Amino acid sequence: MCGGTLINRKYVMTAMHCVKSSGVTARSALVKIGEFSLNSAIETIPQQNIPVAQIIERDDYDESRINNDIALLRLSTDVVFNDNVVPACLPTDPNQQYVGQQAIVSGWGTTSSGGSTSNLLKETTVKIVANSDSTCLGPYGNIGSTRMCAYTAGTDSCQGDSGGPLVLKEDGRYTVVGVVSYGNGCARANNAGVYARVTNYLSWINENVADGWCSGTNPTVAPTTAAPTTAAPTTGGACDLTCIGDFTGNYLLNGLPATCNLGICSSTDGTDLCSALRFPCGTPTTAAPTTAAPTTAAPTTAAPTTAPPTTAPPTTAPPTTAAPTTAVPTSAAPVKPGKLCNLRCVNRNLNGNYLINGIPAICRRGRCRATDGSHLCKQLGFPCRR
Ligand code: ARG
Repeated sequence: MCGGTLINRKYVMTAMHCVKSSGVTARSALVKIGEFSLNSAIETIPQQNIPVAQIIERDDYDESRINNDIALLRLSTDVVFNDNVVPACLPTDPNQQYVGQQAIVSGWGTTSSGGSTSNLLKETTVKIVANSDSTCLGPYGNIGSTRMCAYTAGTDSCQGDSGGPLVLKEDGRYTVVGVVSYGNGCARANNAGVYARVTNYLSWINENVADGWCSGTNPTVAPTTAAPTTAAPTTGGACDLTCIGDFTGNYLLNGLPATCNLGICSSTDGTDLCSALRFPCGTPTTAAPTTAAPTTAAPTTAAPTTAPPTTAPPTTAPPTTAAPTTAVPTSAAPVKPGKLCNLRCVNRNLNGNYLINGIPAICRRGRCRATDGSHLCKQLGFPCRR
């Protein structure tokens, strides 16, 4: 297993050695988004398990020197952002070295060298050091501009954390500056952890993830936040999202700036929120109650932008575990139900309405149909076989 960082709604950044080793193919890779506990479903918002459509490799990856250890995963379906699933920012200044800054590394890797992996996502803080620092130059020699070291005595990333994020706060937002790559043992005295240096790959990353931005524009040019300004917002039609939560205040919903009052949300940039989100709580007739238009509070920073970045561990397991996501109340009247899809291998107790990997569905004892007419099993890649 490896870690990864969600960059936008379609792409996860990970390590080359995670996808290069032991015959990992796009077909066999599964990304878990919003995961926390690997062996129990205690997440408040269930994780999204998304198959990988394409692995974008670095052709300059040097396996023997572990250089250019960075890869991108293009997901087969868009990630649904929520309070626990927010992409990390990419650095904007390619010359920033971050030396001396405290950074957070996270993952489900082993908790000691040769030890066992963690069921729960863990994080620790390490200090980014100069390549010339004795804890970096000493054990690893000259690592050049493609890698960086981070060292704090007594703590480190470890086996199984590879591909995961090393982030630090820039302007109040988590920016991913490193990709877990290698080290001598783990937390060994005077041996830093080594990370792929994200700033060295910015143009390659930006070129490859361009179609994953929600607005279709690259937020390194036009900042991600699409933060509501104090100017009078133009609002799109109201969209009923009460089946997902009682959102109140300002949010970025799948990258769209919105203002909500008890689950009824309107975009503040004029887009039709419900159709952009594919009517997660039902059709336009059930959504968009004109009477429940939210009163716009003075816009503040969109709450989810300050949430910690999501670590998305790509695994090599076959996509057999596509798990249902947000439960939807039964009030959303199903229209044109799609083909029956057996999801009993995922959860035999699925009863009622769900958003399964973003697809609204109705289930009875683990057998589900999409309520938007789509072919659920096909969309999910037949997780429990035909
Ligand atoms: N190569 C390891 C992996 O595949 C990551 C090791 C990181 N080691 C360290 N000391 N920071 O998971």
